[in-house]
Amino acid sequence: MEQQNREQWGSRAGFLLAAIGSAVGLGNIWRFPAEAYRNGGGAFLLPYLIALLTAGLPLLILEYTIGRKYRRSPPAALRQISRPAEAIGWWQVAICFIIASYYAVIVAWAVRYAGFSVGKEWGKDPESFFSGDFLHAAAEPGGPSEFVAGVFWPLLGVWALVLVILALGVRRGIETANKIFIPLLVLFFGALVVRAVTLDGASKGLDALFSPDWGALTDGSVWIAAYGQIFFSLSIGFGIMVTYASYLGRKADLSGSALVAGFANSSFEILAGIGVFATLGFMAQANGVAVNEVVSDGVGLAFIAFPTVISEMPMGALFGVLFFVSLAIAGITSLVSIVQVVVSAVQDRTGMRRVPAVLTVGGAIAVASLAVFPTDAGLSILDAVDHFINQYGIALAALVFLVVTAWVLRRVGPLGEHANATSAVRMGLWWRVCLGVVTPLVLGWMMVDSLRAEFDENYGGMPTGFLAWAGWGVAGGALLIGALLALVPWRNAPASDTDADTDAEPESSPSPSQEKEEAH
Ligand code: PFF
Repeated sequence: MEQQNREQWGSRAGFLLAAIGSAVGLGNIWRFPAEAYRNGGGAFLLPYLIALLTAGLPLLILEYTIGRKYRRSPPAALRQISRPAEAIGWWQVAICFIIASYYAVIVAWAVRYAGFSVGKEWGKDPESFFSGDFLHAAAEPGGPSEFVAGVFWPLLGVWALVLVILALGVRRGIETANKIFIPLLVLFFGALVVRAVTLDGASKGLDALFSPDWGALTDGSVWIAAYGQIFFSLSIGFGIMVTYASYLGRKADLSGSALVAGFANSSFEILAGIGVFATLGFMAQANGVAVNEVVSDGVGLAFIAFPTVISEMPMGALFGVLFFVSLAIAGITSLVSIVQVVVSAVQDRTGMRRVPAVLTVGGAIAVASLAVFPTDAGLSILDAVDHFINQYGIALAALVFLVVTAWVLRRVGPLGEHANATSAVRMGLWWRVCLGVVTPLVLGWMMVDSLRAEFDENYGGMPTGFLAWAGWGVAGGALLIGALLALVPWRNAPASDTDADTDAEPESSPSPSQEKEEAH
């Protein structure tokens, strides 16, 4: 197939920056700080580090290995491991389609808020400005009934930028964009953190974040939170890392790259924790309340708490621009990576060239996104879909993927050999245990726990009726579409590993020497 002339990253640094760009996203800036605070503060860093070492890095290396070995997007790569496994690949592609459609919306809000920061346009009440003046959010959850131009236009701009980057290709588009955006992000966010820690009350916020509650370590939900944060934050289980690694050269070091990307991502996360909690400390002090009264995350943190602080602080406009531009940049580089999964899957499947694939596939996601989210129901649909697709999409797909590769197909060992041929660190027993035992157990436990919460309290009383159905429908729909796409017969399909073709390893006895040949 056209695998021979597959595009390649221009340099190792280019690949690494793109992988870091994908990992560093909204999850780092608006999810990690509050997650750490609620789950033991400083003590959270211990389960977090253990989750990184026992699940995050091993899975990241496995995804890199699959991508680099088969040099294809998830459906085609998994099909080569075993025909039925292709369905898992398409399931991930469907999940990426859905996530991209709403992740872009948040980026668009951030772009708009960078503009609002200049004149602090939210006035005295950022909360009602956000849901009322800006989003026109309906009081009652339900289907869309009003179109919101103030969200539509920035969203269109975000999609235009993303599609142009993708149309330019892996090296000229994605790599170049990350080479520009990541240094800018570090500069802007670094400046923001420096300002934040010099605010009055910053130390109160940092104390609140980092003072350890060691007792939390005996609480199972704290461990679930740590693993959940690592999975989301490293972008594993989405198929993104398989896709990005499929553009690597044969000799690329996999474990070294995973270590660099993993630790860079966690460092950014901790930096974000410092920036956000220093700011919250200032807010608490300015209002004469305790830090725990101002802690928030997600949409509430970015679009309500931060605007409040920006209005209260000297030179708030500059601080606001730095914050929202950082959020938008972090989001764009993640968005590019997730849309690329869908584009490259369709390219591998149909042989379509890049630009038509970007225009049709990327265009379809953009149209879906522009049709559903710039409406009065946008915020509530986004919340519900995000919750269900994370729990019963990404995490469940990762669990199924691991059970299938490790237990059903017994591929983890041979893939480790493949990684070892070009890696600085050897994948040995610990790696197989992490992937075959630790990670599936944790993911399974997470699944049971979140299902229990779902039925106990109906997701904290959140989506009911229309929204719960929309959430379940979207998560179930992704699975169904994945399975159906895998049934469509291929012409010129790549042979699977189990067929006797040149790229194959004998099923029972993996041969490292053959792997070596392939690697050089
Ligand atoms: N690691 C990303 C984040 O922290 O935001 C996860 C992600 C989400 C990647 C959505 C890509 C994406 F489109």
